[in-house]
Formats: sequence, structure tokens, C-alpha cells
Amino acid sequence: MKKFIIGSIVCVLFLVSALVVFAAGENIISMRLGGDQPAEAPGEKSHSFFAERMKEETDGQIIITVYSNAVLGDNLELIEQVQAGVLEMSTASMGWLNSFVPIVDVFSTPYLFRDKEHYWKVLDGEVGREIAGYIEGAGMKLLYWIDAGARSFYNNVRPIYTPDDLKGLKIRVMGSEVMIKTMKALGASPTTTSFDEVYSALQTGIIDGAENNPPSIDLMKHNEVAKYFSVDEHMMVPDCLLINLDVWNKLTEEQQDIFIKVSKEAQEFAKEEWAKQEEEALEIIAKTTEINEIPDKSDFIEAVKPLQESLSDQFEGYIEKIQAVK
Ligand code: GCU
Repeated sequence: MKKFIIGSIVCVLFLVSALVVFAAGENIISMRLGGDQPAEAPGEKSHSFFAERMKEETDGQIIITVYSNAVLGDNLELIEQVQAGVLEMSTASMGWLNSFVPIVDVFSTPYLFRDKEHYWKVLDGEVGREIAGYIEGAGMKLLYWIDAGARSFYNNVRPIYTPDDLKGLKIRVMGSEVMIKTMKALGASPTTTSFDEVYSALQTGIIDGAENNPPSIDLMKHNEVAKYFSVDEHMMVPDCLLINLDVWNKLTEEQQDIFIKVSKEAQEFAKEEWAKQEEEALEIIAKTTEINEIPDKSDFIEAVKPLQESLSDQFEGYIEKIQAVK
């Protein structure tokens, strides 16, 4: 009898614990987050930070696994998957997202932002919120903006001091009509290539050069296959973290609040990481590549003025709205 009672208790305890595990298991939400940069990149690091904080804040109920290095696809493919709902979250550069949300190509307008402070005022302000609204209209929700600094030219033919130096150079850009127009306005011949193919395109001479921010150049080791880096800082094209809108809408209000809170923290984390890595990247690039500063950028700014004016209508007054942010 005693044996029977103990056996029954053990049985009941086993069943109860199995039910608890089952119930907990049932409540766990697993999500995948794709990125196109190496895991050490500021944005990717912020994704890991984000995943960790989400786990902490939800007591392990929301588990996000980060896949860096374009293992789930390049930037365009990642966004495509998030929009289609086959991937929950991904990083996105406005230079690629514009294929799904045309208005975000406004951020590729050359010399649009006065400085970093202006850039963040725009992203964190009314314009940033309105743009996030357009992104929602395309079935995705912007969780947080990711600093992606200023983009400059690097190439294997000559140092660039004025737009004249770009004449005839084949320069790789992202999938953005505005970037293509900007290159043409500056005299270069643009071509679109996915980010993970730039190294070999530079190495084999398929392109003469490309343009990007220092941490991306350093982390992808493009400096190993580029002779000159010319700091003209022609555009500041932000990245962001996206989540599929249906996935978002299925979350409880409490879970959404945690996402919002943790997203704010991750944006700050990425900002700090960016500042640190940008400086370090320049030092690393200087070891392999000749760096030329361009203290007076007025020739570049003049060369793209007509383009800026012609883009004004296309972007429904957003260029002026952005410029008006003080
Ligand atoms: C930046 C950006 C990436 C983007 C890349 C590119 O590094 O952070 O998200 O894919 O530029 O030039 O394609």
C-alpha cells in the first residue's frame, strides 16, 4: 500500500511537472532575426543585445536567435522574407528597403543631413515617425533606428578630391535609384551589387570602387582590396531593425511594451558602439589604404544640387521637412 501511495505521488508529481513544462513550452515564442553584417558590427551587436534583453524582460518567454553574416540572405532577401512573414525580424538599410517602401530612398539624398545631431533629431522626431508609418503600410514595423554613419568613396584607381576624379570610375552602390542618380551626378558609373559580393568584385576588378561607412569597410575587409579611401561623406543612410507586422500584431500589449522598451535601449547601445567602432575602423583602414581627407566639400555639394531639387517632388516635401529640422 505504502509503495502504491508513493508510486502514485511520484506519478502525480511527474504529470504535474510535465504539464508545467508543456505549458511553459507552449508559451515560448521563438523568433529569428537576420542580419547581413559580421556579428561584431555595431548593428549586429545591438541585435544580440536586443535578444538578450528580450529574454531577460520576458523571463525567457520570447527567445530571439540572431543570424548574422547574411546566412539567411543578403539585405534585400532578408527584407523580402520579413515582408512575406517567413522570417520574423531583420536588419534593413534604407538603401535596400526602398524597393518595398519607396519613400525611404529620401535618406539616400546626398548631403541631406547637416551633421549627426541633425540626423538623430530627424530619425527620432516627427519625420522618423512618419516614415515608420509608411514602413507599416508595407507590412513591417520599425523597431529601432541603427546608426550607419556617413558613406565615402574607396577605389583602386586614384584618390578622389573633386567630382572630376570620379569620372569614368565604376562604383558599386546599394539598390537605390537615388544612389544611382547621385553617382551619375558626380560623374561616376554606378552598378548595384549585394554587400557580400563587394570584396570579390573589388579584387577581380569588376568594379573600380565602392562607397560605404568605415566600420562596414573594415569588418568586410574591403580595405584589403582598395588602394584609396576618400572622405567625402556624401550621404548618411540609416539602418533599422524590422519585425513582420502580423507577428507584431499577434503579441500581447504587455509584450509589445517590452519590445518598445528594449528597442530604445538597443538603439542607444548601437549608437555608442558605432562611435567607438568608427574611430577604430579608420585606424585599421589607414594601415592598408591611403586615406585622403576632403576638408572643403563644396564641389561635391554643388554637383548634386540640381539632383536634390529634382528629388524634391518625388519625396513629397520630405527633403524640405528634413532640412527644416533644427
Ligand atoms: C551598410 C549598411 C548595410 C548595407 C551595406 C551595403 O554597411 O549598414 O546594412 O547592406 O551598407 O552597402 O550594402
